[in-house]
Amino acid sequence: MTPHNEAKAGDYAEAVLLPGDPLRAKWIAETFLEDAKLVNSVRNCLGYTGFWNGTRISVQATGMGQPSTGIYVHELLNTYGVKTLIRVGTCGGITTKIKVRDIVLGISASTDSATNTSVFAPYIYAPAADFELLRSAADYAASQMIEYHVGGLVSSDTFYVDEPARAYEVLARHGVLAVEMEASTIYTLAARFDAKALAICAVSDCLITDEDLDAESRQSTLDTMIDIALNVAARETTG
Ligand code: HPA
Repeated sequence: MTPHNEAKAGDYAEAVLLPGDPLRAKWIAETFLEDAKLVNSVRNCLGYTGFWNGTRISVQATGMGQPSTGIYVHELLNTYGVKTLIRVGTCGGITTKIKVRDIVLGISASTDSATNTSVFAPYIYAPAADFELLRSAADYAASQMIEYHVGGLVSSDTFYVDEPARAYEVLARHGVLAVEMEASTIYTLAARFDAKALAICAVSDCLITDEDLDAESRQSTLDTMIDIALNVAARETTG
């Protein structure tokens, strides 16, 4: 147990899907997992463990943003022995190279968060995805004819950015495809504690064109994202 998590040792599977939204964690558990059990409800930050095609897999909400995410991820890695973290969430496109509905596999996660600046000074650390997870996700997506992109994410501490097209323009010119709010701390902590991490994001809106998803497309894109994540998680699970 921790101050933020009432689960007992062994309650989490080796691989954990990480949505931001607690109700999305519940939806994933109830829709995709068999025999899913609630393992955490402290602060309503719901966590579940169940089975997918016979493989034990967990899902834990992180809340929004890196400070919240860092707490859950630190504890999953240190207290609960989790080995593989797969973020599943939405992102906003910052380039016309990607469209709403597409899937972005985040090869790197730049950030404006002070958490990393202070830890790595005088260096600027480059949080990166685990190569095997990334390859596994890309191979699976290609085999299913899923429209996916491999590129940079930026994990911003601010959702309501003033003039986003202008604010993100320099990042877009340097290979960053989309903005979200959690991947950078997940990649950093996975590297610190010898675990593997990947962010699989569904493009829910475009900050350049202001396009966003209707409810039906949003649901099918989320289903696709979870399908990739579960396949990658199952391939990673050893026993
Ligand atoms: N900003 C940050 N995170 C997001 C966005 C956004 O515009 N869209 C989806 N996740």
